[in-house]
Amino acid sequence: MVCPIEDRHAGEPPAGQRRPDRLREDLAVDDARDRISRYQEAFAHPPQGIWAIVPRDAAEVPAGAILLKTLPNAEHGEVEIGWWLHPDSHGRGYATEGAGAVLDHAFAGGLREVWALMYPANMPSRAVMSRLGMTDLGVHERWYPGASQVMRITAAEWSRGRP
Ligand SMILES: CC(C)(COP(=O)(O)OP(=O)(O)OC[C@H]1O[C@@H](n2cnc3c(N)ncnc32)[C@H](O)[C@@H]1OP(=O)(O)O)[C@@H](O)C(=O)NCCC(=O)NCCS
Repeated sequence: MVCPIEDRHAGEPPAGQRRPDRLREDLAVDDARDRISRYQEAFAHPPQGIWAIVPRDAAEVPAGAILLKTLPNAEHGEVEIGWWLHPDSHGRGYATEGAGAVLDHAFAGGLREVWALMYPANMPSRAVMSRLGMTDLGVHERWYPGASQVMRITAAEWSRGRP
């Protein structure tokens, strides 16, 4: 499941567990807190935002994060979804399930389409997009420097085919 990301997601880990910050990589707690507050501020334009992916049975230890934000160089307000998991949380369906919840939120919040961009070689991310039913629009250089694989899903497609 997903929940709004909060300061506590950078907190000290329970005894015996590894570093708590799972946003991208292992970080010092203070750096994780700084990053969370920067993200909260940057994406505080609903329905845009950033959420922690939290396992139902260990909600205090986030497995990763999902964000919804305007693409850089967007000419028409294109909003992208992005995700990342701590490596030991791969392969459990968390990204797909969490992204589904965020797409529900995006379309309930009035977005008509959501984009997703990644390095063309990022097959795990492409697989998440395919599982969600996103349409592959090929490789483009319009938004980020260098080549990105570009995928998109409309509100109508999502309401017809939500996995
Ligand atoms: C991209 C990324 C989030 C994908 O992670 P992932 O674990 O492959 O994706 P999911 O969480 O959706 O899990 C899907 C996998 O879990 C498996 N799975 C296990 N239980 C599952 C369940 N209950 N439901 C769905 N899938 C399940 C699926 O079969 C699939 O495995 P497969 O690819 O071997 O078939 C991850 O690779 C990552 O964080 N990469 C680094 C950051 C990054 O590149 N982000 C994207 C930038 S564009």
